[in-house]
Amino acid sequence: MSIDRNELRVWSMKTSEVPHSIPSAYVKVLQRWEHARASAFVHESDRRDYICAHALRRALLADCFGLRAGSWDIEQRHLQKPIIATPIQHGTAESNLTHTRGFVAVVVGLDCAVGIDAEDRNRHIEPDAASLICSTSEHDFLNAIPSSSPARRELLLHMWVRKEALLKAMGVGLSFPLPAIDLDHNGHPSLSHSTFAIGAISDWRIWNIDAGPSHLVAVGAHHCGRSLLPTHQAINWHDLEDMLLHGNSLGQANEDYR
Ligand SMILES: CC(C)(COP(=O)(O)OP(=O)(O)OC[C@H]1O[C@@H](n2cnc3c(N)ncnc32)[C@H](O)[C@@H]1OP(=O)(O)O)[C@@H](O)C(=O)NCCC(=O)NCCS
Repeated sequence: MSIDRNELRVWSMKTSEVPHSIPSAYVKVLQRWEHARASAFVHESDRRDYICAHALRRALLADCFGLRAGSWDIEQRHLQKPIIATPIQHGTAESNLTHTRGFVAVVVGLDCAVGIDAEDRNRHIEPDAASLICSTSEHDFLNAIPSSSPARRELLLHMWVRKEALLKAMGVGLSFPLPAIDLDHNGHPSLSHSTFAIGAISDWRIWNIDAGPSHLVAVGAHHCGRSLLPTHQAINWHDLEDMLLHGNSLGQANEDYR
C-alpha cells in the first residue's frame, strides 16, 4: 500500500487529448455495469470522458493499494454514492470521481469519505444562480464584487465546485440545499440552518486543487480529526495506457466482464 492515512491522492486527466479510438486498455479494466453505462451515451465525447474517469479511478486505486486495476469491485446504485466492495488489508478504500467535458479527476483516500468536483473555468453560470448556491453571508461577500467583474463569476463557480465536492463526499449530492452551507476561506464548512441533520459538519473539510488553468477542482473529505493532505498529479493519457498495460495496475478483466 503506497497511500497513508493522511493522504488524499488526486489524479486528473485531459480527455480532450485522448485519441478518438479509446485505448483498449482503458476499456478492458471496466466492470460490466460500467460498459453498459458507457455504451448508453449519445455523444462520443461523453462516452470517452466516462470511460477515462472510470479507468483512471481503477489505475489510481491500483497505485494506492497495489491491487490490479481490473480487479476492483465497485458497486453503484441509482442516485447513491458508489462504494468500493473490494476489501483491502488495512482499512477501507474510498474514492470519488468527476467528469466534465474534456477533463476528468479522481480522488482516493483511506478510511475517510471523499468527494471531488471539477468544472471548466470558463463555464457559463447565470448570475442568479447565486441564490441556489450561496448562503446569506456568501451572498453579501459576492455582492461586494461588481457584477460586471469576471472575478465574481469565477468566485460563484468556485463556491459551486467546493460545495458539490463536499456534498459528494457526504454522499447526498445536490439533494442537499447548497445555501444551507457556509464555507470559510480555509475550507471549513458550517450550517446556516440547524434543521439539516448531516452529523457534525465540523468533521468535514474542503480543499482547492490546483489542476492547471483550465479547470476548477475541489476535494471534500470527512477528516475524522486527522490532518489530511491532498496531493495532485496530472496524468497524461499515454501514461495511463502504460500503467494499465505494463504497470502493477494492470488487472485481469473483471469476472463479470469476461
Ligand atoms: C452526485 C451528483 C452531485 C453528481 O453531479 P455531476 O456534476 O452530474 O457529476 P460529476 O461528474 O461531478 O460526478 C459524477 C460521479 O459522481 C458519483 N456519484 C453518483 N452519485 C453520487 C452521490 N450520491 N454522492 C457522491 N458521488 C456520487 C458517480 O461516480 C458519478 O460518476 P458516473 O456518472 O460516471 O457514474 C449529482 O448527480 C446529484 O446530486 N445526484 C443526486 C443524488 C441524490 O439525489 N441522492 C439522493 C439519495 S442520498
